[in-house]
Amino acid sequence: MLRSTLLKLSESKGFARWVTSNRTTRRMSHRFVAGEELDEAISAARVCNDQGMLVSLDYLGENVATAADAQRARNAYLAVFDRIAAEKLHANVSCKLTQLGLDLSLEFCEGQVLSIVERAASYDNFLRVDMEGSAYTERTIDVVKRVRLRSPAIGTVIQAYLYRSEQDIQDLLAIGCRIRLCKGAYKEPLQVAYPKKDDVDANYVKLARLLLPSGFYHGIATHDPRMIAATIRVAAENNVSKDDFEFQMLYGVRTDLQRRLVRDGYRLRIYIPYGRDWFPYFMRRLAERPANLAFFVRNFLR
Ligand code: FDA
Repeated sequence: MLRSTLLKLSESKGFARWVTSNRTTRRMSHRFVAGEELDEAISAARVCNDQGMLVSLDYLGENVATAADAQRARNAYLAVFDRIAAEKLHANVSCKLTQLGLDLSLEFCEGQVLSIVERAASYDNFLRVDMEGSAYTERTIDVVKRVRLRSPAIGTVIQAYLYRSEQDIQDLLAIGCRIRLCKGAYKEPLQVAYPKKDDVDANYVKLARLLLPSGFYHGIATHDPRMIAATIRVAAENNVSKDDFEFQMLYGVRTDLQRRLVRDGYRLRIYIPYGRDWFPYFMRRLAERPANLAFFVRNFLR
């Protein structure tokens, strides 16, 4: 109930305006967001690298309304790849297609993604296309498949809560696409997604069993100790070594577990978001864990 309400609020423009203009909530957003500027994200990435963690930088933004906004986002991503190379960071980039014009036209968006992927490839780097709500799943996979035919420097995300995900994984593996597996962060109807956590978790492990022995390098994105233990078990059963996949976690979430995985010799990538458009991302993080909300309300009232 609380999760649904927070996810619904994440789409409210009025609430977004209030939250993002309020000094206290802006300060609180730093729990999950590195900052509003690229420099802040670069500093956070440097700290992660120094602790033995890889990074994926995400310039926050979703659902742009004009081609000019989408092109500005594309240019920002080109600059991020340039900066990663100049700073010699161990980092790749994550993006959302609705920020790059998917609502405007699939072909336009594909052209934008291709130009970013070409820049990534020129540095031997990689672009990960995040997965958004189910209204975008089909189109996101279409764009990724088309660009993947031109370059291996692109991968995407599959959400374990969607019924369709097993088939999507089979299709993407058939073209050698690298996948990040996550549970899924959006409000989805019963018709497309498992409503119960136990079913999502069971599907997560089932999908990890498909990914890990596939021979491609995938990302297992979760903070759930049970999913992590299951992944380690599946990897051992299939002789998949610690270097053949990576765990991924979000900036500011379960830093204790992050440190433990690195200490145990696993590859771990931290997803570091930055930018002014942090509101929907922030709301999804609150929705994932009701205790976060209590923490923020307490801070706000202080
Ligand atoms: P679960 O939600 O069961 O949480 C397990 C435990 O982790 C909790 O008990 C708590 O301790 C901790 N935890 C989880 N979330 C927390 C939070 N916000 N604050 C504090 N503690 C928290 N989703 C999507 O739809 N599309 C995408 O592209 C991505 N991309 C992505 C990248 C990366 C690197 C990660 C880690 C996650 C995503 N996600 C995502 C989000 C994902 O779908 C999911 O919503 C969250 O990871 C939470 O699910 P867990 O697997 O952590 O398990």
